[in-house]
Amino acid sequence: MSKIEYTELGSTGIRVSRIGLGAWQFSQSWGVTEYERARDILAKALELGINLIDTAIVYGRGMSEQFIGRALKELGVKRDEIVIATKIPGEMLSYDDVFKATKRSLERLQTSYIDLMQVHWPPCWHNIPTCEYMRALERLLNLGLINAIGLSDHPVELIDSARACLARADVEVVQVRFNPVELEAEKEILPYVEENDMTLLAWSPLAKGAVLGKYTLEDIEKLQDVRSGDPIFHPDNYKQIMKVSDIIKEIAAKYEKTPAQVVLNWLIMYSDVVVPIPGAKTPKQVEDNAGAMGWRLSREDWTRIYEAARSIKISRVVY
Ligand SMILES: NC(=O)c1ccc[n+]([C@@H]2O[C@H](COP(=O)([O-])OP(=O)(O)OC[C@H]3O[C@@H](n4cnc5c(N)ncnc54)[C@H](OP(=O)(O)O)[C@@H]3O)[C@@H](O)[C@H]2O)c1
Repeated sequence: MSKIEYTELGSTGIRVSRIGLGAWQFSQSWGVTEYERARDILAKALELGINLIDTAIVYGRGMSEQFIGRALKELGVKRDEIVIATKIPGEMLSYDDVFKATKRSLERLQTSYIDLMQVHWPPCWHNIPTCEYMRALERLLNLGLINAIGLSDHPVELIDSARACLARADVEVVQVRFNPVELEAEKEILPYVEENDMTLLAWSPLAKGAVLGKYTLEDIEKLQDVRSGDPIFHPDNYKQIMKVSDIIKEIAAKYEKTPAQVVLNWLIMYSDVVVPIPGAKTPKQVEDNAGAMGWRLSREDWTRIYEAARSIKISRVVY
């Protein structure tokens, strides 16, 4: 049985497991489109003590939220046994749309409040002033419809501007991509989150499986899901990532852990504010990921992975 660790979400007093569960998998993008399978994944997480679930309005165009709401009812989960984080996409950020989108999320999730509401990405094409959506979020907070505000995929300059729009509330969570081979967030965002007592929710903590060494170069050509267009699965990048995953596999064998457990452990060791939210397609993967808690890599082994990861150069220019 895994020993589950807990931490606080920003300064909210909300207690979350040190590793959460990502629910993008409950969509056509990743392939868990059958309700019963999603329910079993969620049930396993809750059974083990993983209480933080990250979803979004766009995951399966509402399907992920719907599955979660239905499963929580069916499993008889008490509302305070789960921390629900969802996200409003950059398209739905006008003042009125923030309210409309939240109302629909609440209906799909079959709940009266959302623990953490995040802006999924900035309204790049829609010219909505930052303060318009931040004030709408603060109003939702004051109405008790959400308990905390988070920003996803925002650079630090924009996080600063967004915080300045709030009267009394603050941004508690920043969600960005962070894993051993995609470390860009360590340059500015992670230090900012640490300085401001926030939590960093690390998305794609397993690099969508790329750092686990479970796929050969032939396999990646056959991937039919969201990964088929991802530059980290381009052979030029993937060949380099394999050098890191070989080390991860070697270290996993030494500790009698799995590669996923090593990667997630490496992330929680990186900083106390990092909370990875790995996606899982089976209850077994959830169980495996939960086993990343309750122990630590040696500093030497941690550094070996870091040095290997720093020595490779991933490029997004793949055509
Ligand atoms: N804010 C944002 O913009 C944003 C963007 C992306 C994701 N997210 C969030 O972050 C979550 C996680 O990111 P992600 O889904 O991109 O990638 P990820 O967590 O890095 O990788 C998930 C995939 O890795 C494989 N996997 C998971 N656990 C495993 C295990 N123990 N052993 C072997 N393989 C395992 C599974 O795919 P296979 O079994 O098919 O290999 C799974 O679908 C999402 O669910 C979502 O909630 C947020």
